[in-house]
This record gives sequence, structure tokens and C-alpha cells, in this order.
Amino acid sequence: TENHPAQVPSDVGLAGLREAAAGCRACELWEPATQTVFGEGPETARVVFVGEQPGDQEDRAGEPFVGPAGKLLDRALTDAGIDRRDAYVTNSVKHFRFTPTPKRRIHQSPGAEHLRACRPWLEAEFAVLQPEVVVCLGAVAAKALISPSFRITRERGQLLPWTPPGVRAAEASLADADQDEDAPHQTWVLATAHPSAVLRTPDDARAAAYDALVADLRVVAHALA
Ligand code: URA
Repeated sequence: TENHPAQVPSDVGLAGLREAAAGCRACELWEPATQTVFGEGPETARVVFVGEQPGDQEDRAGEPFVGPAGKLLDRALTDAGIDRRDAYVTNSVKHFRFTPTPKRRIHQSPGAEHLRACRPWLEAEFAVLQPEVVVCLGAVAAKALISPSFRITRERGQLLPWTPPGVRAAEASLADADQDEDAPHQTWVLATAHPSAVLRTPDDARAAAYDALVADLRVVAHALA
């Protein structure tokens, strides 16, 4: 089976994108994976959370952030005053990555080629959602969406002015003008730690790592208020 670039239909909404992504063959990850794990959440979401790549449980369930990292994210969102049901949650790469041989269900970070192959789906999600705030969960999303030199430790928790890739600036301004003609258009990106990084933090530092995640998410909650 040959890989071919993601074939992203236009004007089909999130449901149409999800359906098309189910058959994506843009990289080799589709083959051993159970299914494409597309983003999830309402089309009206004002905030989009972007993770790295589905884990084992997400691969089985077909939904993003439902495993241990997802449970921690849910708790942190609640503590920060954000209702996950109002948010759209997705990943930089939408297939789980098995180790090639032997086939084992352990996590690996996506490669540059997987990020590149999958990016059209993320851009299409942004184009439909026109989010006000995008939250990068971890360095993989932050480097892909903000800058290759982005450092979570140094730059986390800051709202940075930004236009989502896939959303043309003029389009974004137009959407904003619908709401208030005088309001200068602004969309934001913020990066924070990946929930899995909090789970991997040694016992003696884990509570502080969790609190730092919640503090960053409170910045997001404030921007949405
Ligand atoms: N980690 C991620 O980056 N995404 C998921 O969906 C689950 C775990």
C-alpha cells in the first residue's frame, strides 16, 4: 500500500473531515493502528487543545485524551474552570504509533514525517473552528504550531498573538467583524506542559507540576471569560 497526501475535502464541516480522515493514508501509521483518532468537540468551541498523538487507550476508543493523560487533563480543566464539553480536543498526529517490530503497544513521539503528513487535518480543523485560543499541550504541538525553537519551560503560560495555520488572517478578521466591528481581531496561542509529563513527574514534584498546569489553564479560562 502506497502513502499519498491527506485528501482533505473542503466545506464539509467537522463531521465530514472526521469521515475523510478515517481513510487517511498519508503516512504509514494508519496500518497497524486500530483507527484514526480525530478531534472531538463542538463546532462552536472557542478554544482548541492540541496534544501530541493518541495513546493506546485512545487508539482503542477512537477518541482523544480518554486514557490516563486525558483523565488528568479533565481534572486540570475542571480545577481551572474550563468545561471540556465547551472545548475542542485534538492531536498533532491522529494515529497511534506502534513500535514497528515486534508490534507492541508502547508510546513513541511522532516523527517529523508524521507531523508533516497529518498537518492538513489540523489546519482544516482550525479553518472550521476559527478558534480564539489554541492551547498546545506539550513541546511537540508547541514546536509544530508556534516555533521549532519554542521551549515549554521558558515560555509556557503566556498568551501569544497568533493566527492558526489554515486560517487566513483576512478570514479571521471577517469572523471577528461579525461580532463587533470595532474590536481589533486577535487570536491567541498558549503552550503548557503535556498532561503525560505531569504523570511522569517524580512523586515529590508531581503536585507542583500539576498546579503549574492548572495555573496555565487559568490563563486560558481568563482569556475566554
Ligand atoms: N496523549 C496525547 O498527546 N494525546 C492523546 O490523545 C492522548 C495522550
